[in-house]
This record gives sequence, structure tokens and C-alpha cells, in this order.
Amino acid sequence: MPRFTNQTVLVTGGTGGQGASHVRALHAEGANVVIGDIDAQRGAGLAAELGGGARFVDLDVSREESWAAAIAETEKAFGALNILVNNAGVQNPPALIESTQRTTWARILDVNLTGTFLGIKTAAPALRRAGGGAIVNIASTMGIGGTALYAPYVASKWAVRGLTQTAALELGRDNIRVNAIHPGVVATPFITEPAAGSHAPIADFYSPEPFAVPRLGQPADITALLLFLISPHAAFITGAEYVIDGGLLLGPALQREAA
Ligand SMILES: NC(=O)c1ccc[n+]([C@@H]2O[C@H](COP(=O)([O-])OP(=O)(O)OC[C@H]3O[C@@H](n4cnc5c(N)ncnc54)[C@H](O)[C@@H]3O)[C@@H](O)[C@H]2O)c1
Repeated sequence: MPRFTNQTVLVTGGTGGQGASHVRALHAEGANVVIGDIDAQRGAGLAAELGGGARFVDLDVSREESWAAAIAETEKAFGALNILVNNAGVQNPPALIESTQRTTWARILDVNLTGTFLGIKTAAPALRRAGGGAIVNIASTMGIGGTALYAPYVASKWAVRGLTQTAALELGRDNIRVNAIHPGVVATPFITEPAAGSHAPIADFYSPEPFAVPRLGQPADITALLLFLISPHAAFITGAEYVIDGGLLLGPALQREAA
């Protein structure tokens, strides 16, 4: 029995590794899916592959007018917006703070933080018109501690946490829940391809072997948590943050080998 029939979900960064996984699962569960992304070719391809109940919108999350158009198109196509997934994100090329360009800082903050702010701001009236709904912000385990060489990314994801809690307080009375997911390291182009201006992808520096669950996260791991958080089972959960990292933040599990 599909769980999200008669629900319309907008997923930003919906053509990416995690975004496309969310889109496919939601569509399979009966939802109308709106794929918002700057990659029009991949977006149109995914929408065509899914067929009815799927639509691509050209959405640059850092631009307010782009958001207004995307929300209007969603309501026109499907009658309402019930759920927003703020998933689009970019990472900075690895660099010390003292070597980080102001333009790089601004670009990462623009997409990851301002994009999430604009999404909440623009979607809230539509969610209210729909009688309530849910927003899930995709942050990161890098938004929980520090990570050398990733200051813009870390700062943007930390800030998304404060935004999530504030939005939850402001929108709870409107029956709109707002939560955050903190993925650990997930096997997507985000870690397997170098960030713009960089040569080394994160995957080059990272081995999951010492950690409690010794594998990379898969997009489907994150999708499963997302589907729970937007479901009626999570009706009393708002302003919450979910780490989903296979134990990465717990640190290495090397004692086991030493015993
Ligand atoms: N992969 C990981 O290890 C990991 C870990 C923690 C958090 N995250 C977060 O998960 C989210 C999804 O990342 P992913 O792993 O699927 O990466 P990805 O690179 O595969 O996907 C990112 C998507 O965002 C889109 N995008 C970029 N800028 C945009 C903009 N201005 N407007 C709209 N769309 C834009 C890209 O076109 C792409 O489709 C991101 O917010 C990322 O920060 C990823």
C-alpha cells in the first residue's frame, strides 16, 4: 500500500545521488514528486523516466525568484505542496580558512544556508494553504563538529541546524513540522567527484573501515529516514536532528580489533 498517495513533495537537488533516491522512492510510494535542480538535463530525464506524477522544475535554490516560480509551478501542476526536502548542497574545495576565498565562502553559504532559508520562507505559505505538512533540511555530520579544510561547508551546515529549530518553533502552530537529517559519508558524486576548484574528492581521504558500520552510507539509507520523518509516524517530531552515519561520529571502533 503506497504511503504517500495524494502528497506532493518538492525535493531540491533532486537529480543528485541522494535527491534522486528520495525522488524515486517517494514516487514509488504514490507521491507526486517535483524535482528541483539546476541540472535541467538530468532533471528532465528523471521526470521522463518516472512518467505521471513526476515533474522537473528549474530551481536554483540561492535565487528567491527561482523559488517563487518553482512553488507556483508545483501548485499549478499538482494543486498543493505538502512536503519540502531542502536537499541541494555544494561543498567547498578543501582549503585552510586563511586560504579560503571570500567568493568561495559566499557561494557555499548561498546554496547551503540561504537556499534552505529561501526554501522555508517561500514554501511555508504553500504548506499552510495545504493545511500543514513537513520540511526536512539535509544538513551533515560536518554541521556537528569542526572539520579542517571545510570551513564554509561546516559553517553552512551548523547554521542550518539553528534555522531548523527556529522554523520548527515558528511553524508548529500551522501543523508544519521541521526537522534535520545529518548524513555521514554517503556514496554519491558529492564525495566521489572533486568539488569545483579541487583535485581530490573526499572519498580519497576517507576510509570507513575503522568505524562501527564499516561501509559508506548509501542514498537508500538516508531515504529510509526521510520517509519516516515525513510520515504520520513522526507526527510528534519537530525541531529534531537525526544523525545517520553508521557510527562515524562515535569514532573508530579499533578496540574491538585490539581485544
Ligand atoms: N554525500 C555525502 O557524503 C553527504 C554527507 C552529508 C551531507 N550531504 C548533503 O546531502 C545533500 C545531497 O548531496 P548528495 O550527496 O546527493 O550530492 P550530489 O552532488 O550528488 O547532489 C547535489 C545536488 O544538488 C544540486 N544543486 C547544486 N547547487 C544547486 C542549486 N543552487 N540549486 C539547486 N540544486 C543545486 C546538484 O545539481 C545535485 O543534483 C547535500 O545537501 C549535501 O551537503 C552529503
